[in-house]
Amino acid sequence: MMSKFMEWVDARFPATKMWEDHLSKYYAPKNFNFFYFFGSLALLVLVNQIVTGIWLTMSYTPSAEEAFASVEYIMRDVEYGWILRYLHSTGASAFFVVVYLHMFRGLLYGSYQKPRELVWIFGMLIYLMLMAEAFMGYLLPWGQMSYWGAQVIISLFGAIPVIGADLTQWIRGDYLISGITLNRFFALHVVALPIVILGLVVLHILALHEVGSNNPDGVEIKKKKDANGIPLDGIPFHPYYTVKDIVGVVVFLFIFCFIVFFFPEMGGYFLEKPNFEVANSFKTPAHIAPVWYFTPFYAILRAIPDKLMGVIAMGGAIAVLFVLPWLDRSPVKSMRYKGWMSKIWLLVFCVSFVILGVLGVLAPTPGRTLLSQVCTFLYFAYFILMPFYTRMEKTKPVPERVTG
Ligand code: HEM
Repeated sequence: MMSKFMEWVDARFPATKMWEDHLSKYYAPKNFNFFYFFGSLALLVLVNQIVTGIWLTMSYTPSAEEAFASVEYIMRDVEYGWILRYLHSTGASAFFVVVYLHMFRGLLYGSYQKPRELVWIFGMLIYLMLMAEAFMGYLLPWGQMSYWGAQVIISLFGAIPVIGADLTQWIRGDYLISGITLNRFFALHVVALPIVILGLVVLHILALHEVGSNNPDGVEIKKKKDANGIPLDGIPFHPYYTVKDIVGVVVFLFIFCFIVFFFPEMGGYFLEKPNFEVANSFKTPAHIAPVWYFTPFYAILRAIPDKLMGVIAMGGAIAVLFVLPWLDRSPVKSMRYKGWMSKIWLLVFCVSFVILGVLGVLAPTPGRTLLSQVCTFLYFAYFILMPFYTRMEKTKPVPERVTG
């Protein structure tokens, strides 16, 4: 019965072909490790955000007069509204935790190198859209930090010469942040950007499956195939990695649910304290800080005294990641076989990024500003010096086959 039905479908739609190409006959390297959980976890969190987002939209009102109260209504009166909101707000932070670890894996194993440049570029576009999505979502509860955070970020566009003032007004749709801004951010947050992100995720995975996955050894498994053309070091994604990923999903959900049920505000890092107060354009909060996942870039912005230069540095810090595949000139991919300079620089980069993240949360003092300048310098040095240290250093020989 079933096979007859599938025959009927396959004659009209490539269902079996797609299943085979992307799952049962997609050969992935057999040496995936812990870091390879985060792609599928990013997909899981994406689905969580879309599903909980749809249900939140059913009870949320996107107007300056009612937005804040409608979120309180969701929290107190809508059945299971509190859990929908906490799944969505915790999901936003979880998304960035997962994506940062996913990107770190790319840096560690050189997954952005040839032939995976487009996988990386699509990934970076997803990251950019994700930041826009999170930023716009944060305005929707219309709390104090929603309002003033958006005020700070949108006013940055004002630093652009000639068009700056008009551009900020165009983004806000008003002379100041108002219900009009809230309305357009709502449209972009619930419709436009999710469509773009979903489309980019499809492109990301199609590009990956065209070239095949990298692995912790950085060995191209397609180079060594058996008589049937199957990579010797490859195993079918389904059932092997679907089962492995389920283990990751279970562990992730334990941690995620623990936070949702016991620490949804995460001490003010996931939901900031001033956001429990309704937006007030006459009262600036004592200390404006973005949510933790933006703070490294916020610290770079503040490290530079000139506003325009700060905006350029902040934009540059994200833009430079796009050209990473062309900065790394190493003959090997994985950190396992790169030299000590690549290892030290990756460490320096990660430590600087984390310190910048911490500094971005804190109020600036002269000492902290100096430290953020040093870390900004090191952040960029990692990229700018990469063509040199990756070519100069002595690499280890890469094995023919994966090492397990
Ligand atoms: C919504 C966000 C994202 C989703 C759902 C997603 C999904 C995936 C999936 C399912 C894989 C294959 C499994 C794996 O290798 O872990 C993958 C691989 C990859 N992703 Fe992403 N990704 C996202 C964001 C990003 C970002 C922001 C980057 C980097 C800028 C990125 C770079 C890569 C790279 C380089 C690979 C290939 C890794 C390898 O083969 O070693 N991804 N992604």
